[in-house]
Amino acid sequence: MSEEYDFSNLNFESFSVDGSTSADEETAFRLENGVSIAVVDADQAVCDYLSSMFEGSVDSAFSLSAMENQLGLSSKVVIMGPSCATDSELAIAERWAKQHPHVATILITSELTTQLLRKALRVGVKDVLAAPVDQSQLFETINRVAEGLPDGQELAETALSAPVLDESVSGRVINVFSTKGGSGKSVTATNLGVALAKRSSLPVVIIDGHLQFGDVAVMLKLQPKHSVVDAIAQIDSLDGQMIQQFMTVHEPSGLMVLSAPLDPMFADQVQGEQMVRLIEVAKSFAGHVIVDLPGLFNEVVLSAIEASDDLLIVAELDIPNIKNVKVGLQTLEMLNIPKEQIHIVINRADSKVKLDVTEVEKALGVKAIAHIPSDVVVPISVNRSTPVVISAPKSGVARAFEELALRFSEQDAVLAPSSSGGSSLKKFLVR
Ligand SMILES: Nc1ncnc2c1ncn2[C@@H]1O[C@H](COP(=O)(O)OP(=O)(O)O)[C@@H](O)[C@H]1O
Ligand SMILES: [Mg+2]
Repeated sequence: MSEEYDFSNLNFESFSVDGSTSADEETAFRLENGVSIAVVDADQAVCDYLSSMFEGSVDSAFSLSAMENQLGLSSKVVIMGPSCATDSELAIAERWAKQHPHVATILITSELTTQLLRKALRVGVKDVLAAPVDQSQLFETINRVAEGLPDGQELAETALSAPVLDESVSGRVINVFSTKGGSGKSVTATNLGVALAKRSSLPVVIIDGHLQFGDVAVMLKLQPKHSVVDAIAQIDSLDGQMIQQFMTVHEPSGLMVLSAPLDPMFADQVQGEQMVRLIEVAKSFAGHVIVDLPGLFNEVVLSAIEASDDLLIVAELDIPNIKNVKVGLQTLEMLNIPKEQIHIVINRADSKVKLDVTEVEKALGVKAIAHIPSDVVVPISVNRSTPVVISAPKSGVARAFEELALRFSEQDAVLAPSSSGGSSLKKFLVR
């Protein structure tokens, strides 16, 4: 799929019924049921032309990311122009389909291939039209797509009446820990976060709990403007909406990142109970809250661990590591962390001395939940700041993280309404 499109293929004239280059009042289109229209294309001329077909104001933006903060709460049909037929824009459309049920997308493409059609429908785009597109066909498509949209007002009221800590969402807290540095915690936390965010209909949050030298943002190629320090400065009034202002979204997946302090000097200012409050506020709107911890016990780490629903201990399977894990588990036992919540993630599972997994599980008294192979794709992905589940999705490492995410996403399926992707495909097929 090319990032470029052939502008000459876009026959603007055929958009309008009478062949004029912009829609006149007779042909202008108005939606009766409060659904609004937005247009997105990198080319301003395309946006302008599409906008001119509709009465009233039409939001427009040069990319889906730029449109994101104009989505609002009322039902919206977003017309994606030819420049949106790229993998990165379709990834955002996919996330919208999950996270913004009141928004529907239609793609207009200058080159309609079966591959693009399949891909677009799979990610939740409601329909794909080939340019030159005929105006009545576009209006008919918008009407059909808008019909299936949830009522914008109702959605807004539900959102407004939601309590600060909405008890209907109580996200699952997954802490990622180890008894040793460099064991693969951040690799695990970021890949699990991205894999969960891609499949989840509720937001997924990752909190970088390695306050001194957190590298979650770097691993996700993010340049956060805010961090846990800003959230903690507002801790007394912090709620689910406010904390999101301090998060940075990993666009390809939608994962929401609360990054470690931008200056390690601030690490000392964070107390355990504040970290627990951050986790609680995050789980009031997120389906999953992942906390990437450092490889040591301190007050903040212990508090975070106590707030876990699940504690992943990332370890390699050699004797010194197993000994460390055993000691760590004894500490956790003293803290009354239930054994059922503790799961071992065996990292670099196939390297070094191979110990029998079942023997190790028996010796430790806890189960291994995942085996992550040792693979050069991991350091490559770290250097490129793109998690393996995106950069090398077919690798054994990515598959292991996807399986791990699948185990945790089961609970989310119960909490959240199902995505409308399936029904859109059906609608497309029966029309
Ligand atoms: N399965 C693996 N295969 C190969 N290299 C790995 C694997 N897991 C981790 N690494 C390497 O180990 C380094 C440390 O991992 P990281 O997740 O930062 O550890 P931690 O957060 O526990 O300190 C990474 O930069 C990565 O290159
Ligand atoms: Mg780390």
